Amino acid sequence: MNVAVLGSGGREHALVKAIKKSPKVSKVFCIPGSDGIAIDVECKAIDLKDQAKLIKNLQQMDIEFVVIGPEDPLVDGLADTLRDHNFKVFGPGSDGARLEGSKIYSKEFMKAAGIPTAAFKMATNKNEAMSVIGDFKFPIVVKADVLAAGKGVFICRDKNEFTNAIEQIFDHEVFGASQALIEEFISGWELSYICITDGENFQVCPLVQDHKALKNGGLGPNTGGMGVIGPVTLNIKLQEEINRTIVQPSLNELKKRNIKFCGALFIGLMIQDNKPYVLEYNVRFGDPETQIIMPLIEGDVFEILWSAVTGKLKSIQTKNMYAACVVMAAEGYPEKPVKGSVIDISDRTVSESSYFIYSGVKKNQDQWTVNGGRVLGAVGIASTKEEAIKIAYAQSAKAQWHGLQKRTDIGSFFN
Ligand code: AMP
Ligand code: GLY
Repeated sequence: MNVAVLGSGGREHALVKAIKKSPKVSKVFCIPGSDGIAIDVECKAIDLKDQAKLIKNLQQMDIEFVVIGPEDPLVDGLADTLRDHNFKVFGPGSDGARLEGSKIYSKEFMKAAGIPTAAFKMATNKNEAMSVIGDFKFPIVVKADVLAAGKGVFICRDKNEFTNAIEQIFDHEVFGASQALIEEFISGWELSYICITDGENFQVCPLVQDHKALKNGGLGPNTGGMGVIGPVTLNIKLQEEINRTIVQPSLNELKKRNIKFCGALFIGLMIQDNKPYVLEYNVRFGDPETQIIMPLIEGDVFEILWSAVTGKLKSIQTKNMYAACVVMAAEGYPEKPVKGSVIDISDRTVSESSYFIYSGVKKNQDQWTVNGGRVLGAVGIASTKEEAIKIAYAQSAKAQWHGLQKRTDIGSFFN
């Protein structure tokens, strides 16, 4: 069978690498893909918004199964259109994708389903936002109600920071949002709880921990993720509680709303005093989580994804290994990534346990250049956590460019 993965980032690179290993798959394409992904599979530079052209090409390439990587095309309803054209699709329709597309919808959804989450208020203008300040204790979390890839979120320690966040959203319209969510701050540790579901049943992917802040020790602005380590082992009681009080009620609520959700449901959790709270839903795999989830899944990843669209969801087992991914970002990331810097790769050796995932790169003749905020993911895989981190950092040392940013503490808070 021919498979197409849609998207162009590190997550999609990790997906194509895993899917192409399956003996059941004849050929994998990535659309639009990137120069980096093209090392592994054929890429076709088609704009995902040009649905007519996309469908024509998928038909010509004899694609049977489409895996949609990023959130934007899911929110735009691309999965619905592809299903209407008889493709099997991994990824929810636009109704399910609202869980990520609107933070306010997702909070209301959680409230309706009785799912533990931070207390919140919403505001549609600056005055309204400023008037709810007394309802919360600092720090207060402010979120622009848009798809801002983790970037429209402010943790405000005092009134000045709060006012600045509100002004960015409503006065300067930095995120193009017409609403803001104002939320109680929950302290604790974060966990990316990513499930695969066929709409009825679910399976939990290897659990991994992302590092969202730009700088060591959780400092600096929030990003899409600066590195990831896993698998995290949870005590059985906590895992059972997450499944019982969060995952199952989420699926029940989807069904109640007549939403058939087939794909990855990524629940961003904060664990406070051993209790899980939902920070957000994403309706796709995480980036950079996928970079290590894929190599940590035992067996054939394609068969698992395929089973979610054809019924009879297969169980997911985690390998008895550790993996780490160190994200290497461009100068100016996350606010204003500088593109075009030449990437100097001193050592091109790669192996099954030490390699780069290509996120935002471009190739001009023989020269690789920076072409996105997150540029490379250096992956290390080993039988111990320490060794996996060491390999990932050794891999990351093989590439350099002007203004390169990476954290040096990925995995160090993890036990
Ligand atoms: P979100 O895009 O909603 O996941 O928010 C991005 C990041 O902000 C999360 O990964 C957390 O690190 C942080 N965050 C969001 N909401 C809260 C909250 N209510 N309490 C504490 N931290 C939060
Ligand atoms: N790494 C977080 C995300 O994919 O949203």
